[in-house]
Amino acid sequence: MSEDAAKPSGPDLAAGIALDDIADGAMLQGHVNGEAVLLARRGQELFAVGALCTHYHGPLAEGLMVGDTVRCPWHHACFSLRTGEAVRAPAFDPLPRWRVQRQNDQVFVRDKQPASGPKPAPAEAERAAWPASVVIVGGGAAGFAAAELLRREGYDRPVTLLSADDAPPCDRPNLSKDYLAGTAKESWIPLKSPKFYEKRAIDLRLNARVAAIDPRNRRVTLADGKALDYGALLLATGADPVRLDLPGADASAVHYLRTLGDSRAIVAAAGTAKTALVIGASFIGLEVAASLRARKLDVHVVGPEARPLERVMGPELGDAVRRLHEKQGVVFHLGQTVTKIAGRMATLSGGTSLTADLIVIGVGVRPAIALAEAAGLATDKGLTVDEYLQTSAPGIYAAGDIARWPDPHSGERIRVEHWVVAERQGQTAARNILGRRERFDAVPFFWSQHYDMAISYVGHAARWDATKIEGSLADNDGTVTFLSAGRPLAVATIFRDRDSLAAEAEMEKHAAPG
Ligand SMILES: Cc1cc2nc3c(=O)[nH]c(=O)nc-3n(C[C@H](O)[C@H](O)[C@H](O)COP(=O)(O)OP(=O)(O)OC[C@H]3O[C@@H](n4cnc5c(N)ncnc54)[C@H](O)[C@@H]3O)c2cc1C
Ligand code: FES
Repeated sequence: MSEDAAKPSGPDLAAGIALDDIADGAMLQGHVNGEAVLLARRGQELFAVGALCTHYHGPLAEGLMVGDTVRCPWHHACFSLRTGEAVRAPAFDPLPRWRVQRQNDQVFVRDKQPASGPKPAPAEAERAAWPASVVIVGGGAAGFAAAELLRREGYDRPVTLLSADDAPPCDRPNLSKDYLAGTAKESWIPLKSPKFYEKRAIDLRLNARVAAIDPRNRRVTLADGKALDYGALLLATGADPVRLDLPGADASAVHYLRTLGDSRAIVAAAGTAKTALVIGASFIGLEVAASLRARKLDVHVVGPEARPLERVMGPELGDAVRRLHEKQGVVFHLGQTVTKIAGRMATLSGGTSLTADLIVIGVGVRPAIALAEAAGLATDKGLTVDEYLQTSAPGIYAAGDIARWPDPHSGERIRVEHWVVAERQGQTAARNILGRRERFDAVPFFWSQHYDMAISYVGHAARWDATKIEGSLADNDGTVTFLSAGRPLAVATIFRDRDSLAAEAEMEKHAAPG
């Protein structure tokens, strides 16, 4: 957390403010006993909760109030103003709450409320329908979020989280950003400490790769031959980086980036490297480029497209991102591919040869669905799920990068690779495992960070026929709306966080009914 964010600012809310100073629908940051507090008004109701998001301490007063929730401007976490609960990822921990007192036309924020205890035990009829155990395959965004939510909802039967990784669930987006740049400590990277899993009796097993699923007998078999029965199964195996099949691509200078181990290896190599070549001008490739520039390496980026990110973000944002990287010293070789790697030397399709101490390949990922395919589950360039995230097999759910689901916003069956979507799908799948029948209807959201510029994107536009640009992308202050037949499908913003939240809230209103 930055020191500025932690410093109390605004009025002393314990001393009181005039009711007129906070309009209906407004939020105000102040402080009480040295703690940053958000005061929010909805009609005649007033709420006081912690002012900083429990994800990465985003300033909630700069977010958006929707109904009785507040949405964080940075990565769109959503909290209940009534209870402080983090109702939607990427935050998991609740906000503290304070008692609010109105005296005539004055409002006072009084004592801090004790943290809400566990939710009341669900009715016996609901518990009776719960599965005898839940096994989650995949210790990433979706798997972690599902395990956390099962316990938060009071599920008290065995939960096993099987992960092929050697590290506990980690903040994967950070692996190409601050951690790689050297500005985030390693202690920030695990989503939770080992105590978290112990306290909640989540049986987290690392280096535990599942080799087979037997849907008929509700059993999974691990690579080491051990078998585990399940009542309900969640598949959250994520995606694997596409490996380039070209001569020399297995050279020791070549790296891919998916796991903490991968990021550590790049950090170690960057320690002695002076030059880096990034193959792939995608989000990950460019974030890696930015982080390696922060480590003062000379960075070249090769990609087949005419403009970076154009396929997802359109030409205008693609150009803005390119300009930003060039300003920071990145050299692009676009419209080209790498045809050969020999030791530290890469040959480009245009004939140029580039020598680099470190080569990072970021040319996309493939959903890890081999396990599901072998078990006979329906697949379609991803694992097919219904609106409740259930696969074609009873009792088996899927979430995250592998899942292709019916998106009520675009009207298409889509699969995305977004951190927050994976976590929210994990949460919805967990509720459905508990019998809630909750449709997954969240508006897709992702962000990407390049130097100090963060791009937020809500919605999903695989294709569009027009864009509307507001503000100035060149000045890092703008909005691009992607339209089809006049209907907004997606909105990308730079430094316009509230507009991004407003676009998300607007899209939520127009989701096709379930
Ligand atoms: C470096 C990097 C930066 C990113 N930055 C962003 C960003 O800024 N914004 C954004 O929205 N998204 C970002 N993403 C994408 C985001 O991280 C993914 O969309 C998200 O992690 C998907 O979650 P998941 O749970 O589906 O898969 P993962 O988080 O990949 O987790 C999959 C888990 O499954 C395990 N597994 C796989 N097969 C098996 C098996 N057979 N048995 C047991 N376990 C298995 C893996 O070991 C892993 O633990 C980034 C991704 C990377 C790699
Ligand atoms: S800081 Fe609030 S969602 Fe990330």
